[in-house]
Formats: sequence, structure tokens, C-alpha cells
Amino acid sequence: MTNEEAQQRIRWLVAEIDRHDRLYYVEARPVIGDRDYDLLYEELLRLERDYPQFRDPNSPTQRVSGAPVAGFRQVRHELPMQSLDKTHSKPDLADFDAMIRRDLGETGFTYDVEPKIDGVSLSLRYEGRRLVQAATRGNGIVGDDITQNARTIRSIPLTLPADAPDALEVRGEAYMTRDGFVKLNEREEESGREPFANPRNACAGSLKQLDPKEAASRPLDIVVYNAGSVGCDGFASHMEMIAAFRRWGFPTAPWSKSCKSMGEVFAAIDELGGLRHSFRFEIDGAVVKVDERRLYDVLGATAHGPRWARAYKYAPERAETVVESITVQVGRTGILTPVAELRPTELAGSVISRATLHNADQIARQDIRIGDHVWLVKAGDVIPAVEAPIPEKRTGAERVFEMPSACPVCGGATVREEGEVAIRCANPACPAQLSRRIEHFASRNALDVRALGETVVDALVEKGMVSDPLDLFSLGADSLSALDVSGHRFGKNAITVIEALASARSLPLHRWLFAIGIPNVGATVARDIAAEHAKFSDLAGSEVLRNVVENDAKKGKDRKILKIKVEAAKAVLAFFSSDYGRRFLERMAELGIDPAREESAPVVAFGPLAGVGCVLTGTLSRPREEYAELIRRAGGIVQSSVTSKTRYLIAGENVGATKTEKARKLGTEVIDEARLLELLG
Ligand code: IVH
Repeated sequence: MTNEEAQQRIRWLVAEIDRHDRLYYVEARPVIGDRDYDLLYEELLRLERDYPQFRDPNSPTQRVSGAPVAGFRQVRHELPMQSLDKTHSKPDLADFDAMIRRDLGETGFTYDVEPKIDGVSLSLRYEGRRLVQAATRGNGIVGDDITQNARTIRSIPLTLPADAPDALEVRGEAYMTRDGFVKLNEREEESGREPFANPRNACAGSLKQLDPKEAASRPLDIVVYNAGSVGCDGFASHMEMIAAFRRWGFPTAPWSKSCKSMGEVFAAIDELGGLRHSFRFEIDGAVVKVDERRLYDVLGATAHGPRWARAYKYAPERAETVVESITVQVGRTGILTPVAELRPTELAGSVISRATLHNADQIARQDIRIGDHVWLVKAGDVIPAVEAPIPEKRTGAERVFEMPSACPVCGGATVREEGEVAIRCANPACPAQLSRRIEHFASRNALDVRALGETVVDALVEKGMVSDPLDLFSLGADSLSALDVSGHRFGKNAITVIEALASARSLPLHRWLFAIGIPNVGATVARDIAAEHAKFSDLAGSEVLRNVVENDAKKGKDRKILKIKVEAAKAVLAFFSSDYGRRFLERMAELGIDPAREESAPVVAFGPLAGVGCVLTGTLSRPREEYAELIRRAGGIVQSSVTSKTRYLIAGENVGATKTEKARKLGTEVIDEARLLELLG
């Protein structure tokens, strides 16, 4: 390949990958599968390595490329980033409308109603159609340059199409998705860190991460909704401008309404209010904007914000209840978590009787006492949270909560590690920790042993039948079926458990790695690590992990390993070099289990399903592993989840919508057991 050819190919690949990123992350309608995407990406990586002179700082391979920074550079906004005046009622909004009509002396204009996203406002600047700067609002005049972190948000275009202006600044709101927030908080608490109060704080915290690798692991996204200082003139209306932003590859609000009258504005606000919990982001109101941009100069601005727009804040949904008691739970990693036991009350569609209070510091800070009347809210619209006590309602009978000095389950000593807010039970043999570890081991994304729920596991541990997750594999059918679970014989369920454990033996590496429950190794991290290792037994002496720890990932040639974070690599190595980890590995060998990387499943070249990817889901009439074996014998490849390589999704009863939806998107055929048997001949 000549230099010129290489340069051209790199340019083409950059544009092509950008296009697929846009289709996937912005428009949610991918046109190629993961495998083809990976091929393009890998070719680009290779060419950029061989021809570094043509590497473009805005190449999709450079999204997570920066080294940690010491702090953020301050940048001055060319045009101040204003805020918005707020209203809380329809009469207030009617006053806003009257003010506009008075100032304009005309009536022939339109209002747009949009969601008011509760995130962090950002300015994105492009020069030569390439992203050159991303900055936070700061005080409106000067903000922080967070370009490196913004690049890691996959829906932010790094380059713009040819019909976009050469110089452009757009403004919008970065946010953390609601599910992402829930998962991140689980991770934070597991690591003994303070959880984030809401998705907005989590988003702000992520954008201010000094290490872009950490920022990249946070589920951030953006909606663009406003003009910046350049490139946005020449649009007659706000809606036209938003449509252009969308054409240029920016995500825009998934819902908006154009309204001819205040009656229509009120109706739109009510409609949006009804939808408020259905978005991926949290919204705290609606924004009403004059659509005709020529009127903006006439209307001008106040000290707060433009006079052509107004925020309408929805009343936060909250409910009053009583903290009847505070109990303390012991988690898988020994963390003691105080939980408010509440008088059951309905809030935003569900009845709530418990809410985590996170840790003792938090309770003291909020001054929540046992017996208090409190306001209950949902953090990130999903997690029940005590917002604040209502001190006026105190009778004097309330009691201040004290964290127990010993573990409430095993009575063992507790410790507070340096830099952690959490208090942990220091006894690794604590039955509560063990039960939660086993429950995790058997959970869906781990070894998926359905019949092993909380009560069954508690009974097994209490009877001393298991004292380690691997003990499950030595359980006999007789003793298991005789097990007393809250007054009932476990009975036939024993067979289900034993069969599920038998199938678990051949589950792929990433599921086992996740199942162990190593701190900082969630399901996704486990997949990333598993992708770099052929077998479970390779993890202990892994060079890849050592390279990551030594921050030598680049020398490892393959940039893919950059996905693995130092914390996670360290934790895995620490696990396998601990006494427990070594013993675990030995016992795996004794049990004859050495899970392999997913794709390395042996492929039978002949047979009715040769090379065909299949996923089994739902309740089937025979054990899942039995079907899996039949498929394998017919040459098929049994996968644990639907990917672009899945041809058939074999669906039993009670199949989750996410699986079939994903199958539909990827063009996987959904078939039933009867059809599978036909295919197997
Ligand atoms: S337009 C001059 N549209 O709300 C500011 N802002 O509380 C014009 N916000 O600072 C902004 N969603 O960060 C606009 N659809 C939306 C918005 C929105 C959220 C934020 C923005 C602003 C804050 C004011």
C-alpha cells in the first residue's frame, strides 16, 4: 500500500465508522452487525499503527486516548451560557405569554415545548467540522474544558458532514441514563464509595473525572437544544435549527411539540408530564421556547436568561411516610448498609416499604431518626430514597440511629477502610456475606441457577450444607430435596438446581469471572477481561492484566485491552494470588471445570445447524442444557445472549421483551421448540 492509498483508506474508514456510530448511538438503527463493525475498527487501528503520520486526533479510535489530566483548563465562552427563568404554575406561564405579546405587539408566532433535561449543560465547538472543544457552563462566562471526557460520549460526533458549517458551536445537556445510574451506584457502593444522589450529580462527576478512561466507562449521552456563538445563524425557526443539528449527527430531544396557543402549550406540558418517567434521562420540567428566531433580538434577555424561553418545573413526586425502624443489612462484600423500614406508601406507581440509607454518615448528615415523618422520593426516578425528615412533626419520641459496632449477623468485628465511607464486617466466613456471595454466584448474569433464591441460599448456609459457592457442586439430590426452606421441603426443585449446575459447568468464562464477585468486576468488565483470555485457568498468570496494571497497555499492541481498567485488572490478579483465590482455582481443577472464552466453543463443521448461532431463552419443556447439547451436536453454536451472529432465538414461555426486541433489531429469527426440533431433524 502506498502512503497515499493508506491515507485515503484511513480517511474512508474514519468517515465510515463515524457513520455507523451515528446510526447506532444517535439513530438507534444500526445497519451492520458487531462483527463487521469490529473488522472496520480493527483495520483502522492497524493502519493507524503502521502509518501514524495519518492518524487523526478525531479518529473514532481516539475517543479514549488521553492520559489522565491534572486539572481542567478554564475557557471563556464567546457567548455567555445563560440559564432559564423558571415558572411553577400555569398562571405564571400565562404571564410569560402576556409579556411576550406585549413586547412584540404581535400574535402570529409559535411556541415549542421540549423536555427540560436534568443534566449538565455543555458547549461543543467545531472548527473545520471537527470537534475542538467541549466545555461546561461553569458560571456562564467561564467553564471547564472537558474535551477529553466529552469525546468518550459516543453520540457526540467528532467530525461533521460536509453540509455542516465549517465553524459551529452547539449547546445541549449531557446526562447519565437512568439504568446507567442505577448500575453505577451499585458499583460505587460495592467498592465502598459514596453513591451519587441522582443521575445529574453522577453525570457531573463523570465529566469531571481526571482520567478519561474512567469517564468512558460511565453511561453518558447528550441532547443538543440550543445555538452557540457560531454557525447557527440563518435558521428562521428553532425547530428548523434542531432539524439541522439532527442532520449533522447530533442527538436531539426525542419529544417536542409546536403550539399555536397557550391552550396547546398547557396540553403539551401535561402530555410531557405523563411521559416524564419514560425517557432514558430524568426531566424536571418543560422548556417553552418562541420558535421564530428573528424575534430573539427583539425580546432580549434578563439577568437570568433569554426572554424568549421559560422553564416550567414539574412538582417533584414525593410522598410522606414514617421510618418505623432502621435495620442493617450485610452485603456480599461485607458492607453494612442501614435500611429504612417504612410505613408502606405509594409513590410514582409502586408501593414502597424500604429505602436504603446508604451509610451512617449519610443518616447523620440528613438527621434521619427512627420514628421520623419523612419525604420519600425516587432518585433517578427509580430508586426509593428518603429525601429529608419533617422536623415539625417530631414528638420527641424519635430515636437517633447508631450503627452497630459489631456485625449484626455474625457478631464479628467491623472495620472502616481508609478512604471508604462504608463499614464492613471483617469476617469472610460471616454467614450473611456467604449467603449473598452464593446468591450472586447463582444469579442470572452469573451461573443462572434460577431455583437458588435468597431464602433457599439462607437455608443452605444456615444448615451448614455450603460454606463456599463451589460447595454447590457437591450437593447431593437427596439432601437437597430434604432441605427445609421456611417450613417447606425443597423437593423436586432439587433436580432443577442440580441440572442447572450441570449446565453451568460449560458456561463461558465471562459468566464465571462475574460469578466470583470480585470487587470492580461487573458483568461488562468480566466480558472485556474474558475476551483477552482463552481459559479460566489463564487468568491467574495473565500477562494482559499485568500490562494493564503496569499501565503498559499500549505496548500490548492491541488497543482493545485499553478497555480494561487498572482497578479491575488489579482486583482480578489480587483475587488469584490470595489464598482463597488459589484454593478456588484448585477446587475448579478438582471439579474438572475450566470455562473457556465464548467464541472458542468447538464448531462442528457438518450437521443441520453447522456454524449457526442459537440462543435459548424462556421456560422450555426440557432442561436448557439438553437442547444446548442437541444444538451443538447438530453443529450449532450455543450463545448466552443475542448478538449479530445469532441466527435463531429459541423462545420458550415467559420470554422477556428485551431479548425478542434485540432479536428483532438484529434480524434474528425467533422460533419455538417445535421449529427447533424440525431444524434438528
Ligand atoms: S434552552 C439560555 N432547552 O436548563 C439557556 N435548556 O435551568 C437556554 N436545559 O441552563 C437553554 N433542557 O442547561 C434549554 N430543552 C432545553 C433544556 C435546557 C435542560 C437546561 C439548561 C439551562 C437550564 C436552566
